[in-house]
Amino acid sequence: MVGSCAVILAAGEGKRMKSDRPKVMLNVLFKPMLRWVIDSVLASGTKDICAIVGFKEEVIKSYLGNEFETVSQYERRGTGHAVMQAKDFMGKFSGGDVLVLCGDAPFMDADTIRTAYEKHISEGNAATIISAELAEPKGYGRIIRDNGIGPVLGIVEHKDASEKQRRIKEINSGAYWFKIDKLLPILDTEHLHNDNAQNEYYLPEVITIFLKKGYKVNAYKTSNTEAVMGANDCLQLNSLSSIARKKILDNLLVSGVEMPCSEGIIIGPDVRIGTNVTILPGTILKGKTKIGSSCTVGPNSLVDSCTIGDNTVVNASQCYNSKIGSRVEIGPFAHIRPECDIGEEVRIGDYVELKKSKVGSGTKISHLTYIGDTSVGTDVNIGCGCVTANYDGKSKYKCTIGNGAFIGCNTNLVAPVKVGENAVTAAGTTVTADVPDNALAIGRKRQELKLGWSKPSKR
Ligand code: UD1
Ligand code: CA
Repeated sequence: MVGSCAVILAAGEGKRMKSDRPKVMLNVLFKPMLRWVIDSVLASGTKDICAIVGFKEEVIKSYLGNEFETVSQYERRGTGHAVMQAKDFMGKFSGGDVLVLCGDAPFMDADTIRTAYEKHISEGNAATIISAELAEPKGYGRIIRDNGIGPVLGIVEHKDASEKQRRIKEINSGAYWFKIDKLLPILDTEHLHNDNAQNEYYLPEVITIFLKKGYKVNAYKTSNTEAVMGANDCLQLNSLSSIARKKILDNLLVSGVEMPCSEGIIIGPDVRIGTNVTILPGTILKGKTKIGSSCTVGPNSLVDSCTIGDNTVVNASQCYNSKIGSRVEIGPFAHIRPECDIGEEVRIGDYVELKKSKVGSGTKISHLTYIGDTSVGTDVNIGCGCVTANYDGKSKYKCTIGNGAFIGCNTNLVAPVKVGENAVTAAGTTVTADVPDNALAIGRKRQELKLGWSKPSKR
């Protein structure tokens, strides 16, 4: 949205979470609440975002990196005081509009933000409050309207509200659009007051001031009541995760993902799944995982931030930050650690661990093997119980295995070492020097025979 920016309030501590992380960094379905809010803002079309940070701000700053601006609120003196800290940021968007949001309401969605913005612009409002009607409005600020149904007259916090006002069901979501040039001149402690139940500078007082000045104010009442939900303790955080989980699973089921039983299946909000995919119980998919079509994942698998091709099976295995091709079979009990790049038609069998390695198409690593910091070519066969000895206690070294090589069972490759194309290592070989193309390496002691040997006897 042209000329718009967003300010996200994220300085609060959230004492009831009993966490050492700031509240907005606590996860709903593996993703910090703040990131949910940021992603909705981005999806709505607003790219310039400033987060107001305070409690354990270093945690938030390091999470956000240089991606978004942050401003510190050294003392938490209320939501109005928080927005005052972002005056310089908003000043850069003079002539435009600012969206103010709470960092602890993760389900505020792009549609609601956009529809509220369209109303804000088309009505020429100085402020547009995003409101919602809740059956249980306790704790929220209430929207006060003329005669209960007419134009907005202001917002009253629950703690400051009369019994009669507490019966009002229309609540303030804590998200608003403001005209920046009308907001900035009144955003100080001369205009906002803290003579209220919480001795805080409330942002909603801006609404009262605007109305006194004769500026246009309205509310956009969203029917998405989840958009206003927040969490104050871990129990509520868990119910937010449950709501998000069910919604995601329902959407995937409707879009054709097969889950014969959704028991123990948790799929994060940024996971994308193709057609004809089956997900089996006990499976967790998280991060920006992308799964192609006709794959089966599970039972009991964890896939975090991986890209998987088509017709691939991940059975009872864990995969992290890796690329996995099509028609690959993984598991049971395999561990694909970060930065692996697995080609097509590869087989990674039971008790195989891969780390930071490239595996060419058609290669088979079927049992009990560790491959780390290695480039494995195409059509390689790695036998049972092979190990790349890639670490000498101080540094890591790389191995290369050429196309078509055959690594015999129980081979140790002491890195750095290179096995050539179509080379073979005999079972039990410890490879300490490069093996040329088409060569056989045998590095083990010749077997001795002692004929007529009798076993030691206990008697
Ligand atoms: C606020 C609104 C209330 C609304 C509700 C929706 C005010 C005064 N009240 O109440 O009308 O119904 O949100 O959830 O605005 N924060 C700061 N700095 C501060 C204080 C708060 O950054 O000094 C941040 C918090 O981290 C949080 C957000 O602002 O992310 C909201 O603050 P909170 O104290 O939770 O306000 P509510 O009491 O929920
Ligand atoms: Ca709150």
